[in-house]
Amino acid sequence: MEPISHWHLIIVFLAIALVSQSLTNVEGRTHYHKRPKNKGSPPTYAPSPQAPYVPPSPAEPPPPTVPSDPSVNPGDNSSSSCVFDVTTFGAVGDGTTDDTAAFMEAWKAACAVESGILLAPSDYVFTITSTIFSGPCQPGLVFQVDGVLMPPDGPECWPESDSNKQWLVFYRLDQMTFTGSGTIEGNGEKWWELPCKPHRGPNGSTLPGPCNSPALIRFFMSSNLVVSRLRIQNSPQFHMKFDGCEGVLIDKLSISSPKLSPNTDGIHIENTKFVGIYNSVIANGDDCISIGTGCSNVNIEGVTCGPSHGISIGSLGLHNSQACVSNITVRNVEIKDSDNGLRIKTWQGGTGCVSGITFDTIQMENVRNCIIIDQYYCLSKACRNETSAVYLTDVSYNNIKGTYDVRSPPIHFACSDTVPCTNITMSEVELLPYEGELVDDPFCWNAYGSQVTLTIPPIDCLQDGEPENMGEVVSYGC
Ligand SMILES: *[C@@H]1O[C@H](CO)[C@@H](O)[C@H](O)[C@H]1NC(C)=O
Ligand SMILES: *[C@@H]1O[C@H](CO)[C@@H](O)[C@H](O)[C@H]1NC(C)=O
Ligand SMILES: *[C@@H]1O[C@H](CO)[C@@H](O)[C@H](O)[C@H]1NC(C)=O
Ligand SMILES: *[C@@H]1O[C@H](CO)[C@@H](O)[C@H](O)[C@H]1NC(C)=O
Ligand SMILES: *[C@@H]1O[C@H](CO)[C@@H](O)[C@H](O)[C@H]1NC(C)=O
Repeated sequence: MEPISHWHLIIVFLAIALVSQSLTNVEGRTHYHKRPKNKGSPPTYAPSPQAPYVPPSPAEPPPPTVPSDPSVNPGDNSSSSCVFDVTTFGAVGDGTTDDTAAFMEAWKAACAVESGILLAPSDYVFTITSTIFSGPCQPGLVFQVDGVLMPPDGPECWPESDSNKQWLVFYRLDQMTFTGSGTIEGNGEKWWELPCKPHRGPNGSTLPGPCNSPALIRFFMSSNLVVSRLRIQNSPQFHMKFDGCEGVLIDKLSISSPKLSPNTDGIHIENTKFVGIYNSVIANGDDCISIGTGCSNVNIEGVTCGPSHGISIGSLGLHNSQACVSNITVRNVEIKDSDNGLRIKTWQGGTGCVSGITFDTIQMENVRNCIIIDQYYCLSKACRNETSAVYLTDVSYNNIKGTYDVRSPPIHFACSDTVPCTNITMSEVELLPYEGELVDDPFCWNAYGSQVTLTIPPIDCLQDGEPENMGEVVSYGC
C-alpha cells in the first residue's frame, strides 16, 4: 500500500466526517436538546471509581421519532445524514435496562445506508452486553454516542454466554467513525478487584486462575476508521484495541481510569498500519499507548499521558515469535507521574526488528525510566537466557526534557547480549531529578549509537559507531 495516497484518503475522510458531524449536531439541536441543560455543573454521569453508577434523574420521554428531517437539506442527500436514534428502536436508556437488541436493530438500519448515523442521544444511559457490530456496511457509517453507553456492572452481571474478553467490537468495517460528545463508561471496578489481579487476593496476594477481563472497545479487521471526541473511562481491561486494521485516525479522545487499575492500557494497536493518534489525554493504570507487533507508520502527536506506564513499543518476541515494528513517530507529547516514559521492551528469544523510531519533543514530569530499552523483558524473573533477539535499530531521542523519579536511572539501554542495538541517536536530552539525588547513572548494555549533543545526565556508556560482527544481524531483515 502506498503511504501517501493512504494518508490522503484518511485526511479526506476526516474532512467528510467533520462535515457530516457538524450537520448532525445542527439536527441534534433542532430535535433533541429541548430540555434546558444544568448550568455549569460537571456531568453527573461520571461515577467515581468507588461509588457504583447511579443514573441521573429519570430519563425523559423519548424524543420525536423522526429519523431525519428532510427540510434540513431539501433535495440534497449527498451530505445530509440518515440518523437512526436508538430510542426509536426501543432503547430505554435508564441505566439498567438491557438495550442490546435496540442497538443491534439501529446498527442494521444505519449500516444499510450510505453515511448512516447510529445515534445514542444525550441525557440517556444505555446498557448493552458484549456485542459485535460487524460489517461490511455502506461507507461513511457513524456510531455516535452523545449520552452514556456502558456494559453490565462487573463479572457477576456479565451474561455467561458472552465473551469476557471484549465488550464493544467493530468488525470488518471500512470508513467508519466512532464519535460523540458522550461517555463510554466501562464499569471496571469489580473486574480490577478480582483476586486473580495483581495483589488483589487475600493479604495482597495474587491468586492463580483464569483472569479474563473484557477490553472495552475493539476494532478488528477494519480500515479507514476515525475515533474522536468521546470520553472513555474505567475499562475492565484495555480501553481501546486495534488489531488487523489499516488507516486509523484518533483525535481528541479522553481516556481515564485510576492509577492503580490493572491492565487498563489506554490505546493498544497491533498488526495495524497507518495510524494517527492526536490531541488526546490519557490517564490510566498501565501503558498509555502500546504498540505491538506488525505495526508501521504510526504517528502520535499532541498526547498527554499520566498517570500511566508511558508509551510502549512491545512487548515483542514472546515465545520466540517474530516481531516487526517500523516507522513510529512520537512528537509533542507530555508524560507525567508515570512508571515509564518511552519504553521499548522485548522478550529474549524473539526475532524480527524494530526500526525507524523517532521520539521528538517529549516533556517528562516525575517519570521513572524516562528512556528505556529492555530486551530482557520477563514477568516471572525466571526467563531462560536465549541467543536470539528482536533487533533494534535507528531509534532517535530528540529534545526529551523534564524530570525523573530518582528510584530508577532516567536512561536505561539493556540491549540483547547477542544482538546489539544500533544507531541510537540522542540529542537535546536533558533530564533532572524531580526530587532528591540521582542514585544510579544511566545504564547501557550492548548499545551503539551517537550523541549529537551531550545529554543530561551524561551517558558515557553508549558506544560509538557500529559493533563488529553486524553481518549476522542483517539477516534479521530490517
Ligand atoms: C440520493 O441518494 C440516492 C441513493 O443513494 C441516489 O440515487 C440519488 O442520486 C441521491 N440524490 C441526490 C440529489 O444526491
Ligand atoms: C492475612 O494476614 C493476617 C495477619 O497477618 C492473618 O491472620 C490471616 O490469616 C491472613 N489471611 C490469609 C487469608 O492469608
Ligand atoms: C513514516 O511515517 C510518516 C508519517 O508518520 C510518513 O509520512 C512516512 O512516509 C513514513 N515512511 C515510510 C518509509 O513509510
Ligand atoms: C543469564 O545470563 C546472565 C549474564 O550472563 C547470568 O548472570 C545469568 O545467571 C544467566 N541466567 C540463566 C538462567 O542462565
Ligand atoms: C540512523 O537513524 C537515523 C534515524 O534515527 C537515520 O536517519 C539514519 O540514516 C540512520 N543511520 C544509519 C547509518 O543507518
